[in-house]
Amino acid sequence: MDVSGTIYTIRRSFLRDRINILLLRGSNVKPVALAQDIYRISANIGSRDLFEGIWPIPNGVSLNSYLVKGSRYTALIDLVKDWEGAAGSVSAQLKDTGCDITDIDYLILNHMEPDHTGWLADVKQKHPQLKILCSKRAVPLVEAFYGFSDQVQAVSDGETLDLGGKQLVFYDAPNVHWPETMVTYEPASKILFSCDAFGSFGQVHEAVFDDQLSDLEMKFFEGETLRYYANIVSSFSIFVQRAIKKLSALDISIIAPSHGIIWRKNPASIITMYERLASYMNGPAEQEVTLVWSSMYGNTEALVDAVVSGLDAESVPVNIHRVPQDHVSYVLASAWRSSGIIIGMPTYEYRMFPPMYSVLDVLERSHVMNRKAFRFGSYGWSGGAQKQFDEFSEKMKWECLGSVEFHGAPSREDRETAYGRARELAQRVKQWTL
Ligand SMILES: Cc1cc2nc3c(=O)[nH]c(=O)nc-3n(C[C@H](O)[C@H](O)[C@H](O)COP(=O)(O)O)c2cc1C
Ligand SMILES: [Fe+2]
Ligand SMILES: [Fe+2]
Repeated sequence: MDVSGTIYTIRRSFLRDRINILLLRGSNVKPVALAQDIYRISANIGSRDLFEGIWPIPNGVSLNSYLVKGSRYTALIDLVKDWEGAAGSVSAQLKDTGCDITDIDYLILNHMEPDHTGWLADVKQKHPQLKILCSKRAVPLVEAFYGFSDQVQAVSDGETLDLGGKQLVFYDAPNVHWPETMVTYEPASKILFSCDAFGSFGQVHEAVFDDQLSDLEMKFFEGETLRYYANIVSSFSIFVQRAIKKLSALDISIIAPSHGIIWRKNPASIITMYERLASYMNGPAEQEVTLVWSSMYGNTEALVDAVVSGLDAESVPVNIHRVPQDHVSYVLASAWRSSGIIIGMPTYEYRMFPPMYSVLDVLERSHVMNRKAFRFGSYGWSGGAQKQFDEFSEKMKWECLGSVEFHGAPSREDRETAYGRARELAQRVKQWTL
């Protein structure tokens, strides 16, 4: 296939595998103190299942709950899904802190998605008097998912729960990730329990805080934050921006999300990272190109190397994905961070090649808007993919260079045009700044 683009991709996955080996060693999770009487209680999920039934998690994911012990009341912020023994692990860690699930007075549900609530029915059975606090929009969801409503109480935006010496203040953060989502803030320790916001994929072991991570591990989490953001949060980027603006009024020392590491050395860095990722929705993103291609019989494929050479000539990095071979999770993460997108795709039954159609559908749902783009591809009869692609790219506000569409196998002229288009696209990507 191509020259340096492949090398670039191989290097990246080699690095990822090396880091995997480093990180997946040992999985004993212990409660970790964030401040006096405030603990992270966490479960590491392996890589067998797809997250949300769709996204691969080759490096696993952590589900974090937080225990806050006041002088009068004890609260647990967010729960887990009983997934790969997570509930048992959480129970054991609670015991390590001298607490049983039945000792919890308040369960705070920042977000109703089952990765943070799945264990709820069982907990309710064990502890019927447990008081559950959640946003107004979450109340009917408790009933819908878990079939009960007693002891469930809505809290309003800015409302405070006094635990004795510690307070919890609740702020609505709608659509980060579901409509009912809120975050919880503890003013004495200045900890923000942000639930899905500022989260990432990847298991967390002994190094729990940003200041305990090596540079290599930090790089790993940056990658896992990007893929988590692109896969789970990107559709809601406008709401992420709103939530960040709203929370900027808080004095935050520690960001404690419900997935991934805790940010205490530099909480601003994960906020900045999320702000940057949210801004990619409308471009410019990074000065990179994502090349996604598919081919049945090699005709479209025959132009891949010319396209990559054009990008190389301009020294613009390229993320190369072949579909359906590469999972859309990775294609989306690359596309999210790239200012340029090139689609290589033949016509299939008068329309776009189905696996590429499916990828583009995900890019649309995730709002990968305003990109510099073009398409190349082969057809055999009367075409059709280009017309459908034009409709798609107009909807996505992609600024498209002329496509390189050809009948059957590409000619030498087609190769030269594809090379030239790729160079031109790379130049536009480099020139595109805010
Ligand atoms: C199942 C199937 C359906 C196709 N449908 C169309 C079509 O609707 N219109 C068309 O112009 N070509 C159609 N073609 C022809 C392909 O677009 C053509 O063979 C093209 O060269 C394939 O490019 P590739 O080698 O990159 O896969 C079809 C081919 C196959 C195998
Ligand atoms: Fe979620
Ligand atoms: Fe989540």
